Amino acid sequence: MTALTLSTAAAPGLRADAIVIGVAKGTKGPVVAPGAEAVDTAYDGRLADVLETLGASGAEGEVTKLPAPSGFKSPLVLAVGLGAQPEKDAEYGAETLRRAAGAAARALAGVKKAGFALPLADAADAGALAEGALLGAYAFDTYKENGKDSRAKNGRAPLAEVALLGGKPRDKAYKAAVERAAAVCEELNRARDLINMPPNDLYPASFAAIAQGAAKEHGLKVQVLDEKALTKGGYGGILGVGAGAAAAPRLVKLSYTHSKAKKHLALVGKGITYDSGGISLKPAGHNETMKCDMSGAAAVFAAVVAAARLGLEVNVTGWLALAENMPSGSATRPGDVLRMYSGKTVEVLNTDAEGRLVMADALWAASLEKPDAIVDVATLTGAMMLALGSRTFGIMANDEAFRGAIHEAAEEVGEDAWPMPLPEHLRKGMDSPTADIANMGERMGGGLVAGLFLREFVGEGITWAHLDIAGPAFNEQGPFGYTPKGGTGSAVRTLVRLAELTAAGDLG
Ligand code: BES
Ligand code: MN
Ligand code: ZN
Repeated sequence: MTALTLSTAAAPGLRADAIVIGVAKGTKGPVVAPGAEAVDTAYDGRLADVLETLGASGAEGEVTKLPAPSGFKSPLVLAVGLGAQPEKDAEYGAETLRRAAGAAARALAGVKKAGFALPLADAADAGALAEGALLGAYAFDTYKENGKDSRAKNGRAPLAEVALLGGKPRDKAYKAAVERAAAVCEELNRARDLINMPPNDLYPASFAAIAQGAAKEHGLKVQVLDEKALTKGGYGGILGVGAGAAAAPRLVKLSYTHSKAKKHLALVGKGITYDSGGISLKPAGHNETMKCDMSGAAAVFAAVVAAARLGLEVNVTGWLALAENMPSGSATRPGDVLRMYSGKTVEVLNTDAEGRLVMADALWAASLEKPDAIVDVATLTGAMMLALGSRTFGIMANDEAFRGAIHEAAEEVGEDAWPMPLPEHLRKGMDSPTADIANMGERMGGGLVAGLFLREFVGEGITWAHLDIAGPAFNEQGPFGYTPKGGTGSAVRTLVRLAELTAAGDLG
């Protein structure tokens, strides 16, 4: 990953490949943002005019390159657009800084070292800039010819080194903010790698092995239930979904514990390593990106490891419900009835509604430990994408205050989310003549129907929320801000924040 340092160096004297400055959209044209004073001075105070001449407007994400003024030890100045100038010039929001740092880091792929002379007023700003840079510099090139060592040949290597100018390397709060950013972003980028990994290499057993490796590295407890153990335990949902695949399912339990923990947070992730739809096969055009259907499990995995690396005073258990959804002679058929881990029976009317089946077993397993709260994360429904678009995840919960707290936490870390209801009247659409419940209900409000299904498998009295990340998990369009094409790491930062809030006693 990109190396990040706090630096007291002045822009002119920094030996780097580029100096990054901010330019905002003012009422009368582009304005230079705080942090770039030395660069502006070297341009005789005409930097805003120079940028305007070059066509810069200050629009969010815009990138303008200009030669550094004489006397600078770096050859290039890169101006990144911040969007509308805030009323008080100093107060650029955290998400504005994150996106600008991300856009700059992306634009500097192929370059070794950059000094970021962006607005930096306090430790929180340093954390936001660090996150933006570390997430924006991400590239997935494992499968490019000759692998990682020949990045330069196969496109441009990610920006290797970032110095945050105006940072205070000896200030505890600044150091902590940058260290937190590095831990969270490294794990988030690992989640992106897992999501981007092709499904012929990432299947339940290989995902479980990766989790075991990380657990060993970070001192977590890990337990892997293979198909034998799942059969013995009666995990009919996970087994039913995995029944058609050559690669057998797994349930992974990752536990992080702290001796001073007062609360226990359980996280449950959907880990369908490939969703073909099963016997209810998806048509072409709907299956090309379905390797992303384990994004929930990847987010949970990343969040548990990040909580451990941050040493949070809370117990966090991550449950990864891993299966491949394939059609075959041994696959579950529409019409089959599964006996779930909770004991309830489910009539499978559509094998493409598989996520709720694996989640049901994992939710019940999580419930048996009686945690203070359960948060599940899943690329669960296309309906949620239709409702909220491709950048916002939906939050459903059995507790309105909890749903609100999660929405707030998401906003705090820069993730777009929106509270969604669980309308009681939609439950009867899942009534089955044969079993306790069917895995499909009314088509309208499909995301909420799925949420209602999951609720049936949450233990009595446990505070629970469900994040449907089907929209934001995988970016099929071009990169923007600090978000790359492909796996995004959606929900990781929100989950880490929830673990922090739980540790502080401010949640659940
Ligand atoms: N994995 C899909 C949901 C999905 C769709 C995720 C698009 C990301 C992008 C899920 O398993 C699914 O197929 N859901 C069905 C449910 C339906 C059959 C009730 C859907 O949303 O169409
Ligand atoms: Mn499906
Ligand atoms: Zn799915």
